[in-house]
Amino acid sequence: MSEARLVERIGRREARVSVIGQGYVGLPLAVEFARAGFVVSGLDNDPERVAALGAGRSHSPDVPADDLAAVLRAHRYEPTSDFSVLRQSDVVIICVPTPLRKSKDPDISFVMVAAEQVAARFRPGQLVILESTTYPGTTEELLLPLFKARQARVGVDLFLAFSPERIDPANASFKVRDIPKVVGGVTPQCTRLASLLYRAIVADVFEVSSPTVAELAKLYENVFRNVNIALANEFALMCRRLNVGVREVIDAASTKPFGFLPFYPGPGIGGHCIAVDPFYLAWKMRLNGYEARFIHLADEINRAMPDYVVELVTDALNQRRRCLNGATILALGVAYKRGVGDTRESPALEVLAKLLERGAEVGYADPYVPEITLGGRRLKAIEPTDELLAAADCVVILTDHPQFEYRRIVEVAPLVVDTRGATHGQPVPAGHVVTL
Ligand SMILES: NC(=O)c1ccc[n+]([C@@H]2O[C@H](COP(=O)([O-])OP(=O)(O)OC[C@H]3O[C@@H](n4cnc5c(N)ncnc54)[C@H](O)[C@@H]3O)[C@@H](O)[C@H]2O)c1
Repeated sequence: MSEARLVERIGRREARVSVIGQGYVGLPLAVEFARAGFVVSGLDNDPERVAALGAGRSHSPDVPADDLAAVLRAHRYEPTSDFSVLRQSDVVIICVPTPLRKSKDPDISFVMVAAEQVAARFRPGQLVILESTTYPGTTEELLLPLFKARQARVGVDLFLAFSPERIDPANASFKVRDIPKVVGGVTPQCTRLASLLYRAIVADVFEVSSPTVAELAKLYENVFRNVNIALANEFALMCRRLNVGVREVIDAASTKPFGFLPFYPGPGIGGHCIAVDPFYLAWKMRLNGYEARFIHLADEINRAMPDYVVELVTDALNQRRRCLNGATILALGVAYKRGVGDTRESPALEVLAKLLERGAEVGYADPYVPEITLGGRRLKAIEPTDELLAAADCVVILTDHPQFEYRRIVEVAPLVVDTRGATHGQPVPAGHVVTL
């Protein structure tokens, strides 16, 4: 009965959808469901975020203000901190953070708090989907018991599934609707319903046999990326010893039309996913008596990259008979990746902190990050004018934001350390640009 009713309500776009967590993942998802015709509550326990969204201010590069305004105006999207809306919801999707503790163990307290909010208001006939990246077993071992304790019968009057979020913030080619969804329900009915729901907003849904498979698929994707970036980083270290440009090597290898995927070196791994998620799996495996060796090795290599960048800067200055202590360093970009203002786990911050510690005068430019705190000091972003570029002893490119004018930068700055390959292909005098 419940399943048929939900099928009908989803089909007619009458199902009420709640998305818990209105961050980089939850907001674009909520707006996409609203655009598809559903009435969506965007739940967040941060009142400032809710107020900003209600006033039409989007914090996500994937939700233009116009799109947000349109769904607000149409009353199809309502940001709120009022969890009582969960009682009226047919569908609840959980998109809250899954960080690490200082010990690098998973912190799934956000998921548990959100899931308890949902379970406390459970009513028969609800579809509940977890999208937060987490370790295998979370959906069935931790979420399901919360609902069972409220007499929910999974596959009959509760439909529970895991479907990993794969968004890549600020990626202009792949938005929510362009990225296939993997769906694993606790029962076949759960999988069917979750698939049906996602087909309203994406073209491709790939069903798997359990939530654990879906949880692992996401971890495999991110471990794959982490390990391959580590390999590219190690290749950069090796190429430097051989006095060869690593990017030329990668470009050459990339001409192979099969069996190769290019990854590039950089100043380290940042953001909420790639540096964090592999430890969710490593932790779970340790509980199972297995050490995830690739994950630990990749982490070791990637974590050494900020020190390596400091070494590059020091050596480059040394070649010009300058020492780091007292040198003026202008950093371009502090966000963890191109085109976003997210500085979580950003290796650029670590590089800057280390440069400061060694006595450098550090300034930074980042069109997305107006202010940062480094070692207790507040720094405000500056405009990389010709005067400032020329006055710096070294300009370090840490994030390859599209707004930076790389041609001008290499023309004006006396010395550039480029950790992102942003100046690759620019005509520059030899020895003037050091590339990672
Ligand atoms: N950011 C990405 O690129 C990305 C991509 C794929 C998957 N993920 C995964 O998606 C999940 C969410 O990541 P994010 O980047 O959107 O995080 P985020 O920090 O941008 O947003 C999370 C939001 O959840 C809110 N929140 C926390 N606890 C809550 C609760 N109990 N009730 C209501 N709201 C709550 C926070 O206030 C915040 O607004 C994580 O598991 C992450 O690993 C992130």
